Amino acid sequence: MSEKLAWLANYNLLIFDSIDSTNQEARRLIKSGVDSNFVIWAKSQEQGRGRLNKKWSSDEGGLYMSILYKAFFDIENATQIPFIIGLAVYDSLKAIFRYNKMSPDIRLKWPNDVIIDDAKIAGILIETEISNTYQLPYFIILGIGVNISNDPDISEQITTSLKKLGIDIEPDILLDRILNSFTRYLRIWQEEGFLKIRDLWLKRAYKINHVVTIKSGQTRISGIFKDIDFTGAIRLMLAGGQISSLPMGEIIFDEVPAFKF
Ligand code: BTN
Repeated sequence: MSEKLAWLANYNLLIFDSIDSTNQEARRLIKSGVDSNFVIWAKSQEQGRGRLNKKWSSDEGGLYMSILYKAFFDIENATQIPFIIGLAVYDSLKAIFRYNKMSPDIRLKWPNDVIIDDAKIAGILIETEISNTYQLPYFIILGIGVNISNDPDISEQITTSLKKLGIDIEPDILLDRILNSFTRYLRIWQEEGFLKIRDLWLKRAYKINHVVTIKSGQTRISGIFKDIDFTGAIRLMLAGGQISSLPMGEIIFDEVPAFKF
């Protein structure tokens, strides 16, 4: 482990050579009645999961981690957490490139991807575990996958890895940076509110003010990506000038917009 490890004061750390999925382990911990924060790190996963029930290729060489976070804030604000962890992953990668005197174009792609030069380098899978009574606290699982020396092949998406971009780093160094950065952004969120987080996120957003196509279930909608609202929904300006808010979906890499401008 590297750096300050300051975050270890607030998290139990579990390390696995191999596991089904670190998010699954987080779920098991919740079921077993744990009452504190955990970081679960696996060197490989047998059943790594991505968003929308997709497989997340998890051979040795990548970073596979989940943060099990005991949340004391209102459940309504939980949709703001993806942007906090997204900023933490972004800053950690940026710092690693800066240290290596490199400055590729790193972007945060709504809702939860990190993109470098149009290729996906990291993905985040967020799951919330709430009791029937919606009582506080409840648990949030933040699953983070970063391509380090692994080179996953995802059909509908171009991917990259730190190795491909000329960076050689151990997963635990990146994990340490992400946790320190997550702690810092949580504090900013608590002290300055989501407006500040939203502002920082939008400055780093992929395709902001560009025409994007969002796929949500069977629907595709195109418009100019204006911003995100307080629930984290993406706001598109449609051809007629009206604004449409989409709480869920994926920006797809489509050459032809579903709607002509
Ligand atoms: C996505 O972009 O679809 C999200 C990918 C999230 C992958 C991480 S790897 C660690 C954690 N465990 C999992 O099974 N998934 C997440």
